[in-house]
Amino acid sequence: MADYKLKVTTGDMQHAGTLDHIYIILFGTEGQSERTKLDNPGIDFKTGTTRTYTIKSSLSLGKLLLVKVEKDPFLVVPEDEWYCTKIEVTTPEGEDVVFPCYRWISRGEMVELRGGKAMKVFEEEHVLMIEHRKKELNLRKSLYQWAITDDKLPQNSHFQDISELPAELRFSASRSHEIHRIKRKTGAELMFKGLAGSNKEWKDITDMKKIFGSKKTTMSEYVSEHWKEDEFFGFQFLNATNPNVIKRCSELPPNFPITEEMVKPFLKNGSSLKMEMEKGHIFLCDQKIMDGIPTRVKDGNPLHMTAGLCLFYVNPEKKLIPLAIQLQQNPSEQNPIFLPSDTETDWLLAKLFFKSADLLECQAVHHLMNTHHLAEVFAVAALRCFPVIHPLYKLLIPHFRYTLHINIMARKNLLGSDMTLSEGSFEEEGLTELMRRALSELTYSSLCLPENITARGLETIPNFYYRDDGLKLWNFINSFVRSMVELYYPSDSDVCKDTELQEWIDEIFTHGFLRNKLSGFPACFNTVQEVVKFITMVIFTVSVQHAAVSNGQFDYHSWMPNGSIMMRKPPPATKGQSSMKTLLEVLPNVGDTVKFATMTWMLSTKYTDMVPLGTYPEELFDEPVPKQMIKEFKAELFYLSEEIAARNSKLEVPYPYLDPAQIENSVTI
Ligand code: FE2
Repeated sequence: MADYKLKVTTGDMQHAGTLDHIYIILFGTEGQSERTKLDNPGIDFKTGTTRTYTIKSSLSLGKLLLVKVEKDPFLVVPEDEWYCTKIEVTTPEGEDVVFPCYRWISRGEMVELRGGKAMKVFEEEHVLMIEHRKKELNLRKSLYQWAITDDKLPQNSHFQDISELPAELRFSASRSHEIHRIKRKTGAELMFKGLAGSNKEWKDITDMKKIFGSKKTTMSEYVSEHWKEDEFFGFQFLNATNPNVIKRCSELPPNFPITEEMVKPFLKNGSSLKMEMEKGHIFLCDQKIMDGIPTRVKDGNPLHMTAGLCLFYVNPEKKLIPLAIQLQQNPSEQNPIFLPSDTETDWLLAKLFFKSADLLECQAVHHLMNTHHLAEVFAVAALRCFPVIHPLYKLLIPHFRYTLHINIMARKNLLGSDMTLSEGSFEEEGLTELMRRALSELTYSSLCLPENITARGLETIPNFYYRDDGLKLWNFINSFVRSMVELYYPSDSDVCKDTELQEWIDEIFTHGFLRNKLSGFPACFNTVQEVVKFITMVIFTVSVQHAAVSNGQFDYHSWMPNGSIMMRKPPPATKGQSSMKTLLEVLPNVGDTVKFATMTWMLSTKYTDMVPLGTYPEELFDEPVPKQMIKEFKAELFYLSEEIAARNSKLEVPYPYLDPAQIENSVTI
């Protein structure tokens, strides 16, 4: 007789356990075991427990290949799903094989788990496994399908509603409860204060401080005190939620006719714009992508959004300050160039309009499209093209946790017909047009931070913490990915003959980047280095880049005068006509202000089941070498976290958003 010792672990999340009967069959190269019921005295599959069992076989099964799990009802009661994390088997020969499961199993379902070393398609030798792999991929392709919402945008998964998602891709019960609790609490507080749904106008800007009595952060308080300052305005284009748009300027665009006389008073004594440009001290932000997008009509009145240009200067104190702002693309008398020497409210209004367009562009393009939508493209392609035993499935799947769920919610709520982002100045069609334009210009290079920073000429601009932290993170992710990929792909020919990997990148190129060759995105992989770079970009985008555009939303945007996605009045066409009253007329009313501020709160919350970058709670790899690589990656991130905390403790305005402890492994919020 040959005894196989099994350790069966039930998940520790709510309702993971089951009273149902579980049956197991082991498959090996030399045969299969009897169908055996796992039955010990007491409750076998309690939440958060590991229990041991023995399966007897008359002969050795050879090399273990598969574990078949079946679940039958214990009583005729409603479904009692079981979350099995893993089954560890010790063979009679003393070999330990882990069969990762990490999924919910329903009644009548027959689940086949593969265990042991990660394997690529061309390494499969056993006919049973070759067939199993084909069957698994066919099933995956029918379960996860592409859907087109707009033929000029990245495609998404076909799931219309969260209830259609496989259970393990949905939010945990604890996260769903937390979201509902925060919504209820926030709604009740705002209702109690008479702010939610109010059509009243703000009488004074300081009244906005009443919105979140109990929900302040040090930074949101700081923003409400310093939002008018030029140095703080400039700082935000480097270290707030949209560090993606500013570029070094060596020549003024022809539609931004700034003269030397206009800006001379704000430059170093004796210097000129031309001289400062030559020294690399002048930067530009051009919002031409927003130009001509129709705005929404609210209560019979058109809303507004500008497509401006702002010139910045790194002054001798190494601070980035705005020098001049033009709020529309075409220069004209009704489109003046605003300067810091204008009246306080003219200059404030110019900065407010510019910052508002920046916020809307950031949310639609850099946040929703470039992180959420792309994450879904990478995820759906992986779910369709890789079997669970594939090394790149094991590497990537933790970075797609909850992404399909949050994106279904975002499609329904954030961009749907009756919710927040589309309640700003752009309605759904305007936001879609903005994303279409952005996708048509998106390049592979722009998603790779080192190339992005160089292309924008930002290598040496001082006090740019997004760049400093982001590049370190890029390098850590890159060396982790390199070690993993080189382990499983010793040569370029291994890359070329992995048909599953080639299909994954082809699906991404087709369904995500719409086969746009000019974008520079790869349509296939020819070398190991190409795979390393692409996977580095994927992990960086869904973790670090998402954190950069998302983590600071409440800090910087709960204070509406620092930028608003809704502008109720047109931008000033002449100078000297404005007052603080004009600013209040431009900004949303009380009800809309609290609605947008609540959105920033919901989108900046850290939930208790957050998984930080580099943490892999699911043991998907069975071999010691990748396990050690994960350990080293985590250790590097831990030291970087300490380094960033030490740096931040010395800064007046810290930059905590890319502290690895604050970065999630995947897009979940
Ligand atoms: Fe997000």
